[in-house]
Amino acid sequence: MFHAESVRSPEISPLVWRPIYETGIADLDAQHRRLFELVAEVGERARLPGGDRAATFEEIFDRLADYAQFHFDYEEDLLAAADLPQAKRQAHQATHQAFIRQLQDLWRERNGFEHAGETLHRFLAAWLTDHVLEEDLVTGLGRRSGPAAG
Ligand SMILES: [Fe+2]
Ligand SMILES: [Fe+2]
Repeated sequence: MFHAESVRSPEISPLVWRPIYETGIADLDAQHRRLFELVAEVGERARLPGGDRAATFEEIFDRLADYAQFHFDYEEDLLAAADLPQAKRQAHQATHQAFIRQLQDLWRERNGFEHAGETLHRFLAAWLTDHVLEEDLVTGLGRRSGPAAG
C-alpha cells in the first residue's frame, strides 16, 4: 500500500518490512524487523543536516553493527542445529562475516563518498533484503528453505 507520509526524499526510499520477508521463525522474524528499523533509522539520520548527522551517525552505525552480530550468532546457532550440509552452513556464515567486513570498510571510507549517508543507507537496504530473501530463506532458515527454494 502507498503511504504518502513515508515518502520523504527522492534519494532515500524508505525500507519497509513486508510479509514476503517472514521466515516463520518468530525470534528470527523479530530480529529481522529490528534490523529493518535500524536501517530505516540510518536513512532518517542521513537526511539530517551535516553537523547533526555526524553527531548521531556513528551511534546508529555501532548499534546496527552490534545488532547484526548478535543476529548472525543467533542464526548460526540455528543453522548448526539444523540438518544441513556443512558446506551450505559455512557458505551462509561466510556471508555474515563478509557483511561485517563491508560495514567496517564503508565506515572507514565514508568521508570519501560525496553523499555518505545516502550511500551507506543504500548499501544497508540492499544488503538487508538480500540477507533475508537470498540467504536466510534459501539456506535452511524458514518456510522457503530447501533445494527447491529460490
Ligand atoms: Fe537473518
Ligand atoms: Fe543469515
